[in-house]
Amino acid sequence: PVFSQDIDAILKLKRERDAVILAHNYQTPEIFHCVADIVGDSLALARKAMEVDAEVIVLAGVHFMAETAKLLNPGKTVLIPDFGAGCSLADSITAEDVRLMRRRYPGVPVVTYVNTSAAVKAESDICCTSGNALAVVESLGVPRVMMLPDEYLAQNIAAQTDVEIIPWKGHCEVHERFTPADIRELREAHPGVTVLAHPECPPEVVAEADFAGSTAAMSDYVGRHRPASVVLMTECSMSDNVAIDHPDVDFVRPCNLCPHMKRITLANIRKALEENRHEVTIDPLVAERARRAVERMLAV
Ligand code: 13P
Ligand code: SF4
Repeated sequence: PVFSQDIDAILKLKRERDAVILAHNYQTPEIFHCVADIVGDSLALARKAMEVDAEVIVLAGVHFMAETAKLLNPGKTVLIPDFGAGCSLADSITAEDVRLMRRRYPGVPVVTYVNTSAAVKAESDICCTSGNALAVVESLGVPRVMMLPDEYLAQNIAAQTDVEIIPWKGHCEVHERFTPADIRELREAHPGVTVLAHPECPPEVVAEADFAGSTAAMSDYVGRHRPASVVLMTECSMSDNVAIDHPDVDFVRPCNLCPHMKRITLANIRKALEENRHEVTIDPLVAERARRAVERMLAV
């Protein structure tokens, strides 16, 4: 009953305010399935943000996603229900770090993961997500790139290309906790289970998995292959959201919670729309350079 009051209020507020809600795959099912207009992985959210007609965008996700939506919609109001929804990867690197890396590796292009601040994007040549990282790296046509800040994503992509990749030392606090021993124990306890891992997991975890891909790629894999049982080595809400569409598939846990994603709730989405908070703003000079890196990625 508490959920349904918030859901009804949010649906009404969306109409009154000409607002849409973009929700990442790690949002809880009541957000993902009941109030979101657009859902997906980081790449889909960025792509679809470009097509939004509404005046107001509420980003049910973390801060870098809201910044990306604002970069692509400078004239619209972009709200994030909780400014504290950060990301350990985005916190692992500053714009000054990128400038230092450029001095250390002159002439080597900088590919930055979208899980970064607009200030870091502004220092980059091009962005990438886990869904297009390989294509972005190879699109540059050079023998060596820097790929910042996710060390494991960089190593997982390096394993698939001849391009030499110089990493940074950032990690996702959710995915770094999975281990190869977790997978071996799961396979023993659930014979035949299909193991899907996010490429933010350490390379030794990806090596033990049956498939590695972005949150959207994992979801597509389940839809295409319909395994009898599957474990998603990623954030907990992924399985909850995908399981709703696949009642015939047994979703084995464990999973890890992202405390940042979990700061977004129906209650604060409702407040965001009622009180027009918290509005995402980006310094126009930073925004112009950061937008270039995001748009270059979207053109790949
Ligand atoms: P994708 O949805 O792009 O795979 O990213 C996962 C993630 O950790 C976002 O915070
Ligand atoms: Fe950042 Fe990891 Fe949380 Fe995604 S899951 S927002 S990468 S900390």
